[in-house]
Amino acid sequence: MRVLVTGGTGFIGRHLCAELDERGHDVTALARSPDASDLPAGVSVVQGDVTDRASLDFEGQDVVVNLVALSPLFQPTGDTTHESVHLDGTRNVVSEATDAGVERLVQMSALGADPNGPTEYIRAKGKAEAVVRESDLDWTIVRPSVVFGDGGEFVEFTKKLTPPYLAPLPGGGRTRFQPIHVEDVASILADVVEGTSTGNRDASSSDGAVEDERHVGETYEIGGPEVLTMAEVAKLAHRTDGRSVTVVPIPMALAKLGSAAIDPVPFIPFGSDQVRSLEFDNTTRENDLGAFDLSEDDLLTLEAYLNRG
Ligand SMILES: NC(=O)c1ccc[n+]([C@@H]2O[C@H](COP(=O)([O-])OP(=O)(O)OC[C@H]3O[C@@H](n4cnc5c(N)ncnc54)[C@H](OP(=O)(O)O)[C@@H]3O)[C@@H](O)[C@H]2O)c1
Repeated sequence: MRVLVTGGTGFIGRHLCAELDERGHDVTALARSPDASDLPAGVSVVQGDVTDRASLDFEGQDVVVNLVALSPLFQPTGDTTHESVHLDGTRNVVSEATDAGVERLVQMSALGADPNGPTEYIRAKGKAEAVVRESDLDWTIVRPSVVFGDGGEFVEFTKKLTPPYLAPLPGGGRTRFQPIHVEDVASILADVVEGTSTGNRDASSSDGAVEDERHVGETYEIGGPEVLTMAEVAKLAHRTDGRSVTVVPIPMALAKLGSAAIDPVPFIPFGSDQVRSLEFDNTTRENDLGAFDLSEDDLLTLEAYLNRG
């Protein structure tokens, strides 16, 4: 199949493009500044900006995977906002995919996506989901928990937030996550593209049109094999470097006050939205791994990944 991955040069995109290429598909990665150096030789790159409808051309593609991101871990700068990238960008992707006759759209969302949610990122993701559901495309929405792996920012970000030995953390670092390895996410996304399941993969057609409808119209919540608090993630991450960390709780109200004060300061990337996101668990209501004939035992744990060195 011909598959175009918007944001295909990013953290998850690179792994997905490699997975699709290995499965025999004809893959193109789209980004504003596409760099092919981290992609397999068989993957093409194309320049495009999802916030600029005229820059998109999906002609001839069977499937589009929308992986464009603006990281929720940092405050956006300049004119770029979560609405412009995640919502307006998705509108443009849906519109171009529809006009170009693309059959299937896979939309990368996030756990907790909700038009009325607590942060700009979560609200934009929720509104973007609605745009996708209202489209005439054969869509699937995937909502992962935090994703870890080579090139990812979750572990490094946690380490920065929790300096070794004594780490003051809003709410005592009790926010719960369900980290999932990037290769497990890539494999699940490739299954959605093909209409297959990793745990019991059918022979799929890599050259013809999209065949299996099994994932169409589904919204999947995907998490890793373990639920870990932020404090536990911090301890695991520092232990790999031979360091210990003791979390000192900062009351949430105080953290919010402090972050509101630094919100307008452009060179401090952590603001009130980032603190607010620590008030809510990032875990699945029900892990939809079964749709891919997978169980939590099939997935890589964060500890096993960190111990791999
Ligand atoms: N990583 C996680 O833990 C996680 C968890 C849940 C959900 N997600 C979702 O998964 C998706 C992928 O995340 P990621 O971590 O792989 O992100 P990432 O590493 O930041 O990659 C972002 C990609 O999008 C491209 N991009 C950014 N703005 C663009 C624009 N306006 N037009 C076209 N391309 C643009 C970037 O390339 P250029 O800068 O060259 O344009 C890059 O290829 C996102 O939808 C994210 O919200 C991620």
